Amino acid sequence: MSTAKLSHLAETLIGSEIVKLGNMISERIRAGEKIYNFTIGDFDPKVFPIPAELEKLIIESYQQRNTSYPAAEGVLDLRKAVSQFLKEWEGLDYAPNEIQIASGGRPLIYTIFKAIVDKGDKVVYGVPSWNNNHYVHMTDGEHCVVECKVENHFMPTVDDVREHIKGATLICLCTPQNPTGTTLTKHDLSEICDLILAENATRKEGEKKCYLLFDQMYWTLTYGSTVHYNPITVRPAMKEFTVFVDGISKAFASTGVRVGWSMGPELVISKMKAILSHLGAWAPMAEQKAVAKYLYEKDAIAAYLTQFKSEIEIRLHNIYDGFIALKEKGFTVDAVAPQAAIYLTINIDLVGKTTESGTILASQQDVTSYILSEAKLAVVPFSAFGGASNSPWYRLSVGTCIKEEIPAMLDQLESALGKLK
Ligand SMILES: Cc1ncc(COP(=O)(O)O)c(C=O)c1O
Repeated sequence: MSTAKLSHLAETLIGSEIVKLGNMISERIRAGEKIYNFTIGDFDPKVFPIPAELEKLIIESYQQRNTSYPAAEGVLDLRKAVSQFLKEWEGLDYAPNEIQIASGGRPLIYTIFKAIVDKGDKVVYGVPSWNNNHYVHMTDGEHCVVECKVENHFMPTVDDVREHIKGATLICLCTPQNPTGTTLTKHDLSEICDLILAENATRKEGEKKCYLLFDQMYWTLTYGSTVHYNPITVRPAMKEFTVFVDGISKAFASTGVRVGWSMGPELVISKMKAILSHLGAWAPMAEQKAVAKYLYEKDAIAAYLTQFKSEIEIRLHNIYDGFIALKEKGFTVDAVAPQAAIYLTINIDLVGKTTESGTILASQQDVTSYILSEAKLAVVPFSAFGGASNSPWYRLSVGTCIKEEIPAMLDQLESALGKLK
């Protein structure tokens, strides 16, 4: 390998740990091993296909030759459709000029950072969380990290954020949250909004404000009595300071279709457009036109979501119940009741135990390897989401889960746990 020096960013950036782990497991599966691979925050299209109506519209859109460059802010048809979709489904008022389209959530998050955060600016985020650490690194911001606790469902609280709010430039919240499958309550979100509003009231004319990056990529996927709240509904004054990340990737199992949107103050949105016009990370023209039509199909969307959500919920609950049953049998495992998204937070606390062959599981990494090799269970440790390396908590994703396999998976886990002393 060449030893040529590259940019500081290239030399120091860590690729996604989750993708790395997922690739390693896929290789083992290809080599013939049976693994319950719950590592990827994606859907198996055989289990969770995209909506049939959307698929048809995309095909038609290519047949209609929608294949030229889209407008840098996204095609107007789609921004109008997103505007009405947000109004109808979430009660939010955003005009097309306050909406930016891109090829999914990632380029939008990167662009929000680029539009708001300067080198050295304070960015506040909780851990475990999805990729905030990497975006702060890519923009040279100052990491203000909050260690979230199980008693708060691994969500940041107002007290956590308060410690860092003075002079902060960006607060990152994600609800429903990847990796935990939990949500911010109305009360906690309102308190954090009040804190941001109070901080901004102290800033002088011309001084940069504190913004909120509000990632609601999974907001349609809530279960039972869980309700999704957004900053604008709980505190309308937050509209001036909030930039949303949203799109079809998770709501319609459409991760590979690549259509996302941000809503926010026109000034921020227009700067995001300028930055994105150089990145060229637009959603493909044909998909934009197709999604623009699909978002008006209220009945089809409702029917799709009903079926899709019930299938995810069954998986989350069955696995959750299985973990609680194992806990009740005396095994040192646990789980947080699932509220939303496609994730279950599980705890596998085996450090210090001895395997049949006499090896001591000395670290959480040893535990991860043990459950992979003995239970054939692949899950992502919270350390991959910025959590402590000795955290016994994991993300279990059900996007690729075949529900009929759950009992066998739990049996295999029980037998692996039973072999330890
Ligand atoms: C919370 C959250 N936001 C944003 C994204 C990015 O989504 P996309 O696939 O549209 O880039 C993901 C993807 O996993 C996510 O989990």
